[in-house]
Amino acid sequence: MQKTLKSNIEDDNTQLLYLEDVKKYFDVSDRIFSRKKEYLKAVDGISLKVNKGETLGIVGESGCGKSTLGNLIMGLLKPTEGKILLEGTDLTTLNAKHLKKKRSEFQMIFQDPFSSLNPRMRVFDIIAEPLITHKIVKGKELEQRVLNLMEDVGLDVSYSDRFPHEFSGGQRQRIGIARALALKPKLIVCDEPISALDVSIQSQILNLLSNLQRKYQLTYIFIAHGLPAVKHISNRIAVMYLGSIVELTTKDQLFRNPMHPYTRGLLSSIPILDPTLRGNKQNNLIEGDIPSPVNPPSGCKFHNRCPFATDKCKEEIPSFTEREPGHFVSCHYSIFDL
Ligand SMILES: Nc1ncnc2c1ncn2[C@@H]1O[C@H](COP(=O)(O)OP(=O)(O)O)[C@@H](O)[C@H]1O
Ligand SMILES: [Mg+2]
Repeated sequence: MQKTLKSNIEDDNTQLLYLEDVKKYFDVSDRIFSRKKEYLKAVDGISLKVNKGETLGIVGESGCGKSTLGNLIMGLLKPTEGKILLEGTDLTTLNAKHLKKKRSEFQMIFQDPFSSLNPRMRVFDIIAEPLITHKIVKGKELEQRVLNLMEDVGLDVSYSDRFPHEFSGGQRQRIGIARALALKPKLIVCDEPISALDVSIQSQILNLLSNLQRKYQLTYIFIAHGLPAVKHISNRIAVMYLGSIVELTTKDQLFRNPMHPYTRGLLSSIPILDPTLRGNKQNNLIEGDIPSPVNPPSGCKFHNRCPFATDKCKEEIPSFTEREPGHFVSCHYSIFDL
């Protein structure tokens, strides 16, 4: 019998975060012209667990719900349905005061460090702010802590009285990382943290994140729109399509044995530089645009773009099942049938 993800999750103390059937539907009804309620299904039934110390990569095309999922995990949005447990505490049931306290345990790093940093604050104050708000340290100790954080992220401490605009994009992302680290969080949600940076800077930031993960035993959720960006940093990868996870497994299994046609399409859109490795991978590109999350396709939401779709795919929603240990896929067919 195929196991579902849920039966794998219970009573596991290696797990930091656990999501059960999480949904976020935005009300997008046109109140002037229509009485009918319309919902945009940004996140549509996601179950997953994140282990302590791992990096879970989340990939998918723009608009598939990655940031909404990140914001739900951060407690910045309330789910329409579902549970979000951080070490057993359901974040969705906490009141504002308790959520604020719990917040110190999880932080976010954003795609655009410039818009997430207050332009009128000096770097020192930007990094010190969470330490002051949560009343962690003050005075000389606060000063030392901020300077240590600057060193940790590779910023010159003599720049502590500068403003964000005086730094390059990569340095600004380092400021954002130092601020996120200030409260010694357990989990950091990195929402496309390198996509706005020059290619040459991207690997420096990825290396920094990896080093900090080792030093502080951090757990990361690393969001990106393409597989190449998550490849090096992730232990496991979840592939999202229209608000759902279509495939979830270890990085090695995903690249070695991708099972969902969408994942195979994403992989074949990565240029393969070595011509001897090209084979028929190049022929499996995904065509067409991502459908609207207000009116998603029936059955398997990927059916209208899937080169292998059958009538069953149009009618029945595939379940998310374990095909090999730790490898979950939502597709009616096995890769060998396709
Ligand atoms: N506050 C909101 N109200 C209505 N729709 C939203 C809101 N936030 C996001 N969306 C929609 O939800 C879908 C998923 O968005 P998002 O999570 O930002 O995707 P991604 O990060 O993968 O690009 C998109 O169609 C987006 O337009
Ligand atoms: Mg996003």
